[in-house]
Amino acid sequence: MTDLSIVVLAAGKGKRMYSSLPKVLHPIGGRPMLARVLDTARTLSPSRLVVVYGHGGEAVRAALPDADIVWAEQAEQLGTGHALKMALPALPETGRTLVLYGDVPLIEASTLEALVAAAGDEAALLTDVLDNPTGYGRIVRSADGAISAIVEDKDCTPDERAIREINTGMLVLPSARLAGWLAELRNGNAQGEYYLTDVVALAVRDGLTVHGVQVPASWQAAGVNNKVQLAELERILQQNQAHALLEAGVTLADPARIDIRGRLEHGRDVSIDINCVFEGDVVLEEGVSIGANCVLKNVHVAAHARIAPFSHLEGAKVGPACRIGPYARLRPGAQLAEGVHVGNFVEIKKSEIGAGSKVNHLTYIGDASIGSHVNVGAGTVTCNYDGVNKFRTLIGDGVFVGSGSMLVAPVTLEAGATIAAGSVITKTAPADALTVARARQTSIVGWKRPVKKS
Ligand code: UD1
Ligand code: CA
Repeated sequence: MTDLSIVVLAAGKGKRMYSSLPKVLHPIGGRPMLARVLDTARTLSPSRLVVVYGHGGEAVRAALPDADIVWAEQAEQLGTGHALKMALPALPETGRTLVLYGDVPLIEASTLEALVAAAGDEAALLTDVLDNPTGYGRIVRSADGAISAIVEDKDCTPDERAIREINTGMLVLPSARLAGWLAELRNGNAQGEYYLTDVVALAVRDGLTVHGVQVPASWQAAGVNNKVQLAELERILQQNQAHALLEAGVTLADPARIDIRGRLEHGRDVSIDINCVFEGDVVLEEGVSIGANCVLKNVHVAAHARIAPFSHLEGAKVGPACRIGPYARLRPGAQLAEGVHVGNFVEIKKSEIGAGSKVNHLTYIGDASIGSHVNVGAGTVTCNYDGVNKFRTLIGDGVFVGSGSMLVAPVTLEAGATIAAGSVITKTAPADALTVARARQTSIVGWKRPVKKS
């Protein structure tokens, strides 16, 4: 088959979003709508990928620095036909051109593949049949059922208005014909715009068949003009993702209460309780369980680890069979080996923790290297920051840190060291010794409390 060019129309201002963020950059499933459309477009391996952006759309270009995009500016929005014209200089005169919309984020690759296949070297149009077709261009068919034209809603006769088959806007055209057809467009219509849809009648006039392909589900062709539609499509996307997880064997306590804003990879027998949010790239290996109300962003959780409710993990690596939470916070650079326990109200940042070590309560560990089988008592703090510089704390294998200890970095606790509770450690604690760094307790026998005079 001849080569494929894809043009994504994204010059719309999106006034009804009431936002300073350009419409096509609003995220759905954690990714800008336009980025999602481009991801889908790329799966068709186009030889060119052109994005038509609008006046002031520099933010759009800046948000998508991908080298494979050819940008075409449409300074004034004179209609979809005019928008495609802006892409012409970037298009070859051979092969087919597929037109997509930057604000129709859930279109699927298989649908586009079917559309391109249906076009052959003629034209194809993605259509839908709606109970309420108001606002859409209507598909006009001749007596033999062939598509003959598209009439925009505002230009419809009463008979045409009654047609329920509509234009989704996505279409495939032979690239060699584009320049000629686009030059023929006129804007003498109800909206004073150059309609791309008028190209359909021109193709039929020139003896081409315009093949109609029905979209498999309406949401694939649904566009976003406001936050209501954005929220609706977000729910559909989340529902689709949740069902895909269930079908792949993941246990979800409630498929309506999980949000995936990125990619979630999983092994067998993974279970996820309600209200969890997954962002970026998350991997949950075999047998992992995630408790209710957890947020995981760019996290790798190894086999059979358990994350208890209300834990927040970002940029962390959790080893096999670890037990995390409830109410644990793992920040970027937290790396836990096998069987580590991290309990409630514990924060860990940029630190490695060795196999079988436990940090169970009320603790801050930052910029530390902790060996295996270490026990860090409640209320321990690595004092890693002097207001300007960060320093590391090194803790050897088998160390026992008593509760309420302040470890003032840079500092080293050698293997097997024991730190007495309440110590403020500022120097190396030697291996296998007890280090006590606190004022000695004294008792004054015979001391009298002051007494109030009546
Ligand atoms: C268009 C179709 C209509 C179809 C509907 C589906 C035309 C004339 N009509 O109508 O048949 O049923 O989509 O949603 O094509 N855009 C530009 N530059 C412009 C105008 C639009 O880039 O000058 C972009 C918009 O950002 C948007 C897309 O093209 O992504 C569609 O534009 P919009 O104004 O929403 O088209 P409709 O009038 O809804
Ligand atoms: Ca529209």
